[in-house]
Amino acid sequence: MDRQADRIERLLAEMTLEEKVGQMWQANLGATTVDESFEALVAQGAVGSVINAIGREAVETLQRIATQRSRLGIPLLICRDVIHGFRTVFPLPLAQAAGFDEDLVARCAEAAAAEAAAAGIHMTFAPMLDIGRDPRWGRVAEGFGEDPVLAGRLGAAMVRGLQAGLGSARGGVAACIKHFAAYGAVEGGRDYAPAVCSRTDLFDVHLPPFRAAIEAGARCVMASFSEFEGVPATADPWLLGHVLREVLGFDGVVMSDWDAVRQLCVHGVAADEREAALLAIRAGIDIEMFGDAFHRHLPDLVRDGQVPESRIDESVRRILRLKEWLGLFEAPVPPPPSPPPPPLALCREAAERSFVLLRNEGDTLPLVRDGLQTVAVVGPLADAPREQLGTWIFDGDPALSVTPLAALREMLEPRGRVLFEPALQHSRASGIRDCEALRKCCHEADVVVLVLGEEAILSGEAHCRADITLPGSQDLLVRYARQQAQRLIGVVLAGRPLVLTPLLDQFDALLYAAHPGTMTGPALARILFGEAEPGGRLPASMPRAVGQIPINYARKNTGTPPLPETTVLMQDVPVGAGQDSFGMTSYHMDVGPDPAYPFGFGLGYGSVAYEALRLSSRRITAGQSLRIEVEVANRGKRATTEVVQLYIRDSVASCTRPVRELRDFARVHLAPGERRSLAFELDEAALAFCGRREQPVAEPGRFDLWVGPDATGGLHDWFELAG
Ligand code: GLC
Repeated sequence: MDRQADRIERLLAEMTLEEKVGQMWQANLGATTVDESFEALVAQGAVGSVINAIGREAVETLQRIATQRSRLGIPLLICRDVIHGFRTVFPLPLAQAAGFDEDLVARCAEAAAAEAAAAGIHMTFAPMLDIGRDPRWGRVAEGFGEDPVLAGRLGAAMVRGLQAGLGSARGGVAACIKHFAAYGAVEGGRDYAPAVCSRTDLFDVHLPPFRAAIEAGARCVMASFSEFEGVPATADPWLLGHVLREVLGFDGVVMSDWDAVRQLCVHGVAADEREAALLAIRAGIDIEMFGDAFHRHLPDLVRDGQVPESRIDESVRRILRLKEWLGLFEAPVPPPPSPPPPPLALCREAAERSFVLLRNEGDTLPLVRDGLQTVAVVGPLADAPREQLGTWIFDGDPALSVTPLAALREMLEPRGRVLFEPALQHSRASGIRDCEALRKCCHEADVVVLVLGEEAILSGEAHCRADITLPGSQDLLVRYARQQAQRLIGVVLAGRPLVLTPLLDQFDALLYAAHPGTMTGPALARILFGEAEPGGRLPASMPRAVGQIPINYARKNTGTPPLPETTVLMQDVPVGAGQDSFGMTSYHMDVGPDPAYPFGFGLGYGSVAYEALRLSSRRITAGQSLRIEVEVANRGKRATTEVVQLYIRDSVASCTRPVRELRDFARVHLAPGERRSLAFELDEAALAFCGRREQPVAEPGRFDLWVGPDATGGLHDWFELAG
């Protein structure tokens, strides 16, 4: 047995039952100072990990008590939410997803982990891998969008990035992936509501990102608050035992979410906290976060014979293994490396990649500085250093933020003139503050940059919205600015896709980004003036109307799919039309079947043509892979980076399959006039799905494929997987 395993077994043999249960409690310090009662708990060995210990001093105090005053000297695991940055804030995960760039996500995570480790943090609760297909849900901000392949690839990249620096001077943190499982399917987009999805969707949509992140090395999983099929995840042995450990093969630590054990009483599956502790330990929870049901009831449950001590040993063994893997016994507090300088250049690069250009009439963008004397910067998010950071920013420092206003002033003045008018007090404000000032500001400018969207607080945990249009009087502001502006450029910063449809034609150009973080301003300024390109593609569909939700590109065909020739919109229906006079297919007659903008969509500053799609074969057998080659050419006058996307459709299968499923993507840089050939490989695993099975299987038959710029266009071909 190796030295680490030996130490674990030796400790287990020495530990009292209370000390074992102590390892299973993650207590919340939530402060920079450690009070006497908390000291006493740690000194008794009653606490195994701590959440929200803020700052190195508190961490060092806690570790000194744990390692020097407790009987066995087991170090604490220090945890904190570092969802998209620590002090320096990267774009929201939803914004990073727009980049379709694993390497960038990994680099941002590595930089965030270095800052977090310098503050004494050992593990963070990220990446969030929940598939968000309902933008009313506030937590779509924290995920990687609506597609399992994109979320899996980027989630795995974030795990690698967070953990890359472990054991090095740079420092890293362990990734605790979350929330297991299907939390993104909460009913009505209401946080904490039941997860409503089929088992086939559980296995084919919500689990694949967890499989990818576990394969990437994640050693901790957080159970979801939500229930699935009537059982809260925290109390679900099928989900946490069979699915997570047997189907996905996970052998690490499973943690409850905040107070979720006690919440089993509120859900109504436990009569009291003793029963809640019993259900949770039986389901497979190893660590209880925040609540103390384990602390108060597990020892008695063991002594009463309701829980075998071997089950407690299982959890403690996993927890000690995690602490060993992190090297905590040797270095309970990572040496204080000189805190890394804020990675602002990387932040800006990531922010540039998060902007999606939705509309660019007459090539309004990029702007040409010569001849542009006055730029008006208007709107509630034009100079809002805190709001541009987005949600889940416990330690983010707004003082580091560079806003759109500050960046445009830096770039354009004194040669040019930058006027500023917030127009609204904040994003929800009703009524324009000073119409005359706004009129004058817009009227005097050669171009108006209107920065709109949501304050950070309007998305994130528990912050769901039933109406996901622009809040407050922003629609009024857009129309007013349109009347006054020669050229109107809209910039929408939000924590979710929004319904912008009624306003789209008001803008000459429109950029959208999920909150892009600390360097929002410089990224936007460079994009507006062509020093950078809007590099994003939508990671989630932009609905035409909230009534379309849930909406995503990977829809099922149904037996009566909406076809262009049979899709009649309400305004075109003749009065007195008979019952079967039109449609009879699956769509909403008032808005049609399509979102305002589809998954994968985003304009660039070039003009890319897709040509010459070639397949290595029309037929592959099991074990073979298919090579797909495509030629892309930039017919524009400016360099551009295209996100080439590969989709498939399993045309006939044992279960209905989506009309399209993303299977691969690649960013390719093209100089003006440049033509490049790209190749993708599709192997049997890429063709597999679960359906009503618990493991994915590739079924023989015909597959359609597309290579294109988003989930609706592209070059089409097909091939067969032989039986
Ligand atoms: C929250 C969230 C979870 C977070 C945890 C600790 O309630 O659901 O994502 O990591 O508590 O803050």
